[in-house]
Amino acid sequence: MRAYVLKYYGGSERSELTDVPAPRPRPRNILVEVRACGLNPVDYKFRQGTLRTILRPQLPFVLGNELAGEVVAVGSEVRRWRVGDRVFARVAKDRGGAFAEQACVDEDHAASMPGNLDFTSAPAVPLAGLTALQALRDELDVNPGQRVFISGGAGGVGTFAIQIAKWLGAHVTTTASKRGEALVRSLGCDEAIDYTTQDISKSGLRFDAGFDLIGGKTLDKMFEIMKPGTKVVSIAALPEPQTAVRDLGGRRLLAVLFWIISYGIRSRARRAGVSYRYLFMHPSGTDLAQLAELIEQGKLNVILDKTYPFANISEALAYIESGHAKEKVVVTMS
Ligand SMILES: NC(=O)c1ccc[n+]([C@@H]2O[C@H](COP(=O)([O-])OP(=O)(O)OC[C@H]3O[C@@H](n4cnc5c(N)ncnc54)[C@H](OP(=O)(O)O)[C@@H]3O)[C@@H](O)[C@H]2O)c1
Repeated sequence: MRAYVLKYYGGSERSELTDVPAPRPRPRNILVEVRACGLNPVDYKFRQGTLRTILRPQLPFVLGNELAGEVVAVGSEVRRWRVGDRVFARVAKDRGGAFAEQACVDEDHAASMPGNLDFTSAPAVPLAGLTALQALRDELDVNPGQRVFISGGAGGVGTFAIQIAKWLGAHVTTTASKRGEALVRSLGCDEAIDYTTQDISKSGLRFDAGFDLIGGKTLDKMFEIMKPGTKVVSIAALPEPQTAVRDLGGRRLLAVLFWIISYGIRSRARRAGVSYRYLFMHPSGTDLAQLAELIEQGKLNVILDKTYPFANISEALAYIESGHAKEKVVVTMS
């Protein structure tokens, strides 16, 4: 089968479309004929080797983290899925494999595709949608009436985060450039701040919960606009010890390393009276089924920026790497 394979860490020249043997499902896996896959910044970060300390796959490695397709075989212990089921999934973090004609998925990581989405839109949901849901519902415990600040609302995660925060009943403020403002407003965001011309720390606004998708100076400024005693969850800055303990299987050495590298951020958060958490999202068929329900109920819209054919996957990744994708980017197999 054709697959997009990472041979060595580095730039885009280090991965290529090539023929590899089809994967064989383990007892609790389903084998999916991939119809389309979603792209995310993690794909190029993975290719660059940025995540080598956390995920240690053996190279060569088939890239890709989310997909939609049809089940073509099931492992010996699988009871929930049958051949012919239409599923979507965020695959296991250390396994990848979504940028391929066929991929193995843990049965617990898949969910039935929403009836109102086609194979092109469905793979745009899992990684970004799950990240937004797990951050806002589980980590920030967003409640009706709370004021939530989301940095970077126009990208893949942001477009889901705005809608999920609204569904949870929050008042939502986000940052977007002029190009993204109409989009974030159309998703229900109450206030949009143009980050290219305005300084959020001078906005005079104060928030009950913060979800950071940008990191760096944006995160530092977020600490200044949070009410004391509140929490900021980032998915784009530096991991802290809880990331190792709660998201990465309690790896102690990693917790020590994360304690050191996040010291500055945690100190700045503490000085602002805010708690800081870096979330590394996890695949979950149960959470994905909840997102599917919201999509079917019309409470969550899936918006695509661009779609590319599989032959042009390098170009699609370069577009994501530019940092200015709006909503989601998808590659179709046919
Ligand atoms: N930890 C985890 O589990 C996890 C999960 C998912 C994603 N992530 C990370 O989260 C980050 C966001 O992911 P994504 O998929 O949303 O990325 P994305 O789709 O590539 O985000 C691109 C968007 O960000 C906007 N943007 C760029 N710089 C900005 C700034 N300074 N302020 C506000 N908006 C800005 C761009 O808008 P303009 O073009 O208009 O500037 C563009 O629309 C990435 O670093 C990704 O790796 C982490």
